[in-house]
Amino acid sequence: EKGGYKHFMAKEIAEQPVVLADALRHYLTTDGLNLPSELDFSNISRLTLVACGTAFYACSVAKYWFESLARLPVEIDVASEFRYREPPLPTDSYAIFVSQSGETADTLAALRYCDEKVAKTIAVVNVPTSSIARESDIALPILAGVEVGVASTKAFTCQLLVLATLALKAARDRGHMSEAELAKHMETLRLLPGLLTRALDLDEALNIVSNDLSEARDVLFLGRGAMYPLALEGALKLKEISYIHAEGYASGELKHGPIALIDSHTPVIVFAPHDALFDKTVSNMQEVMARGGKVLLVSDRKGLDVASEGVWQTVQMPEVPDLFAPILYAVPAQLIAYHTAVAKGTDVDQPRNLAKSVTVE
Ligand code: M6R
Repeated sequence: EKGGYKHFMAKEIAEQPVVLADALRHYLTTDGLNLPSELDFSNISRLTLVACGTAFYACSVAKYWFESLARLPVEIDVASEFRYREPPLPTDSYAIFVSQSGETADTLAALRYCDEKVAKTIAVVNVPTSSIARESDIALPILAGVEVGVASTKAFTCQLLVLATLALKAARDRGHMSEAELAKHMETLRLLPGLLTRALDLDEALNIVSNDLSEARDVLFLGRGAMYPLALEGALKLKEISYIHAEGYASGELKHGPIALIDSHTPVIVFAPHDALFDKTVSNMQEVMARGGKVLLVSDRKGLDVASEGVWQTVQMPEVPDLFAPILYAVPAQLIAYHTAVAKGTDVDQPRNLAKSVTVE
């Protein structure tokens, strides 16, 4: 049932081009976006996105999309904090709950808190029969197929895809995107399965680097903009399955404290596609190298051409339009964690202390 793979996690990482293509076929049709007609963002004053773990990082990426594309203010929070904060919620707002299992206790409690307080509750779930799907006003399936590995992989990329289509819809509804621009973004999204396949070809290269990473006691991940949540996701993946201490930071925050951790034993993994923020991230990366830090730079050809000097290792990703780069960069984040864990010999699919579905708070 692992389809020839050593672990479910490896199988699920490899499945991403196929499941993402399924989700694309569902949400992007020749007529435009296929989303329920009662979803209308035009008169919404705010969005609240709530989730746990990896699903929360998907929300964190989506915040960049909703704010930049649809000019819609977005609040994000982890469910275990949100539910006890008694947050005031505008009646003209939507609340979105993202959950692979649809059974996460804190996320479900957060949904119940929002019910009747907001105009609509929306669930982005993998299990359509789950409690979160049933109790929300609108449930949107991510169509990732059954995910067995405790470390969430294909669910993350499919969550991102559904959130991206929602952000495009919001941008259209609110008059911030023309039909032609929408069509262009849809074309870009349709490139993703092919690009993911190419990113998966980096498997062997990442396997080799991960042998070295498996010797580390601490690993840092850096990113800026929508790559910041990817740094957090990379760190979460690594710690949960390899038990190596890892932290993700916004590149610009480094000099406000974490740079004190840098030494030659602490690998620093930098996610930096050649986008508008590239130069800023590279200057943070150089600060790391100036302090003896060894950097693994994950970028594209353009980025590596200008910034590889002095870097410990480079990984060349395919080029991808800036906006949806987080969906593609999920792949190296997952593969680094996977191969490092395999090199350490940990139980990849069933890491200690963790459960696939966290139904107690
Ligand atoms: O089923 P959910 O998406 O609600 O689960 C949320 C988190 O428990 C989950 O993403 C967890 O962080 C994963 N183990 C991460 O790989």
